[in-house]
Amino acid sequence: MKKTLILAVMLFAVSGCSGQNSSENAAPVNVKSLAGDTTVPITQPATELALYPQKGHALARNYAQQPPLIPHKADYPITLKRNTCLSCHAWGKAERMHATAIPKSHVIDDNGTLNGRNYSCNQCHVPQASNKQAIVGNSFSQ
Ligand code: HEC
Ligand code: HEC
Repeated sequence: MKKTLILAVMLFAVSGCSGQNSSENAAPVNVKSLAGDTTVPITQPATELALYPQKGHALARNYAQQPPLIPHKADYPITLKRNTCLSCHAWGKAERMHATAIPKSHVIDDNGTLNGRNYSCNQCHVPQASNKQAIVGNSFSQ
């Protein structure tokens, strides 16, 4: 009795599998691009590379207490262990690197030790390229 039951179950399983082939005669699926008949342009001009002001030139500030804009690329890594911005802007290095030292408002002692609150420089300072259009309009006035 048990054997017959197992056989019946196996037969059922096999017939279940072969059931998948029954769709062989189904109508072909109409595969079409989501873009419809629109042709996709093959070439597209590359996005312009950001052009930063000539090296060594700070940008004018627009209002008092504005965090100055960064006049150079700003992808220097800021990690838990190292802040590469400081390799030029730290008190002991800025003069040699012809960069402005971080201001007194960013440090906690007379040696220029950075205040932890100012560690993520790019939280307040953003780079400004001369050839990039603003993505959103700006009607700021003083
Ligand atoms: C290789 C050296 C170097 C590194 C690294 C560097 N800078 Fe600079 N930075 C400069 C120089 C040179 C200037 C232009 C002179 C100036 O105004 O300080 C400048 C200018 C600036 C200014 C404008 C200062 C002003 O008075 O208008 C800011 C803000 C600034 N950098 C922030 C940063 C930040 C944030 C980082 C890290 C993401 C960084 N810099 C990394 C060299 C460097
Ligand atoms: C919480 C916002 C904030 C953070 C974070 C911050 N800054 Fe600033 N930064 C300012 C503001 C505001 C000013 C302008 C007012 C002043 O000098 O304090 C300034 C000024 C500066 C200046 C110009 C100094 C001068 O004498 O003209 C430099 C250079 C600078 N920051 C570099 C950095 C660097 C490098 C870091 C990261 C290590 C950093 N800042 C992090 C807000 C910030």
